[in-house]
Amino acid sequence: MTAYDDHQGPAPAGGAEEPATEHGMTRRQLLRHAGWFGGAVVLTVAGGEVISHVAGTRDAAAAAAGAAGSPNGALRFVQVSDSHIGFQGPANTDVVGSFTEAVHQVNGLGFRPDFVMHSGDLTHLSTAGQFDQVRQMLAGLRTDRVFTVPGEHDSIGDAGRAYRQAFGKGTLGDGWYSFDTHGVHFVALVNTLRLEKLGHLGTEQIDFVRKDLSGLPSDTPVVVFSHIPLFAMYPKWGWSTDDALKVIALLRRFSSVTCLNGHVHQLFTKTEGNITFHSATTTAYPLPKPGRAPAPTPQVVPARQLKDALGIRTVGYRRGDQQLAIKDERLA
Ligand SMILES: [Fe+2]
Ligand SMILES: [Fe+2]
Repeated sequence: MTAYDDHQGPAPAGGAEEPATEHGMTRRQLLRHAGWFGGAVVLTVAGGEVISHVAGTRDAAAAAAGAAGSPNGALRFVQVSDSHIGFQGPANTDVVGSFTEAVHQVNGLGFRPDFVMHSGDLTHLSTAGQFDQVRQMLAGLRTDRVFTVPGEHDSIGDAGRAYRQAFGKGTLGDGWYSFDTHGVHFVALVNTLRLEKLGHLGTEQIDFVRKDLSGLPSDTPVVVFSHIPLFAMYPKWGWSTDDALKVIALLRRFSSVTCLNGHVHQLFTKTEGNITFHSATTTAYPLPKPGRAPAPTPQVVPARQLKDALGIRTVGYRRGDQQLAIKDERLA
């Protein structure tokens, strides 16, 4: 059973709408979303220095592999992101095929993940057909539960109504929620509905986070999912959340916090004190590295290189560990 199998309730009212372009996206959304690709290279920013290393090697890979298949209560989950079902363009002429391969890769990991999180931009244009198609594809995942957060491509023209009809049952407000498993507290946030230049959470959602975290002991590991990064990855392209610092302040007392996002279509890691942020890659098409193109538009790479730019992420956690073990894999 997947988490959204019983997520069939009516959608709550959404926010303001704006006119869509001939492509079905609003102009703002079209401008915001659209640039390099990290492949398996992770850039770590620590103390102002940027350190690059190949993801999936040494410690993280060993820890993730160690957690995988462990019968001793270890948590194993998968993050997939930005499948953009419905996208048509030279950057990837078969996003359905790519996402199908990602599903097969998850199913071939050699262990059954406790859950799979899709961190948004499930669809490209928020159509009913695209939501139906991605739901059916996610149902092919061999896992107990599938969770999602919406991307801005999942809320085009209706403030997320169609998204919540497909995936929002049991969620609060505009689709946020939290859950606990294996001693870890998970919070799933929606920062794609009221976009001006940057992602936005809003007062109601920040109040939810405050209440949600209030009873938790500070040694509880906390994982926060959102589509748009909660750190300032590249505000010029909207790769940031304008009121995220209010949530970051609420997370400061916890000994270990991991924030996992999509949206930027490339791997990136940054640590700020107790909080580590990990941007995930995509299963659809690469975007440029921050500032390396006039705009964040889909990047056409040679066909052989496309799969190097796409991938999935596995995350392992053992009770008592300080950090989650994160392993990013290229699409096989
Ligand atoms: Fe995306
Ligand atoms: Fe996005």
